[in-house]
Amino acid sequence: MENEIRVLIPEDEVDRRIAEIAAEISRDYAGKSVHLLCILKGSVFFTCELAKRLTVPVTLDFMSCSSYGSGTISKGIVRLVKDLDEPIEGRDVIIVEDIIDSGNTLSYLVELMKARKPASLKLCTLLDKPSRRVHHEVKVDYTCFSIEDLFVVGYGLDYDQHYRNLPYIGVIENE
Ligand code: IMP
Ligand code: MG
Repeated sequence: MENEIRVLIPEDEVDRRIAEIAAEISRDYAGKSVHLLCILKGSVFFTCELAKRLTVPVTLDFMSCSSYGSGTISKGIVRLVKDLDEPIEGRDVIIVEDIIDSGNTLSYLVELMKARKPASLKLCTLLDKPSRRVHHEVKVDYTCFSIEDLFVVGYGLDYDQHYRNLPYIGVIENE
């Protein structure tokens, strides 16, 4: 694959912003532990960088879902491909996402997780594309960057499974 990638957010800026968000979360959860739910595969890189910078005790679990369906994004059906290993009842949970687009994935996941009765449930995302939101009920608690409606890759985000390993956030120029 020979695409040219334009840097949208350079590595040092991403890292600096993750450190800020980690400090905010560490303050908000002072005296507690946080249980991070990493949504595979895209949020793996972000989850690791965030977790490394948290000063409160951290536990991790992973889940994977796929979205497919029926024409419009809003009707996209989300299916759980891999569930969490452990129960979340009574825990302070943060769902960690790579990017929120329509909000379809998170709208589904939040309802699913709420039903399991965590002590608290918050959302943290590396990127948000607010102009694309269909599910306005999805409230994000921690956002590293809001971006315009661009298809981005890197820092875990893929184009056809490629480019997840780029250490910055980029845009494909010559698709
Ligand atoms: P949503 O369910 O529409 O909010 O979409 C969320 C998922 O779509 C993310 O977890 C990504 O896997 C994918 N996605 C949305 N926008 C982008 C993008 O710009 N680049 C790469 N993946 C994206
Ligand atoms: Mg993806």
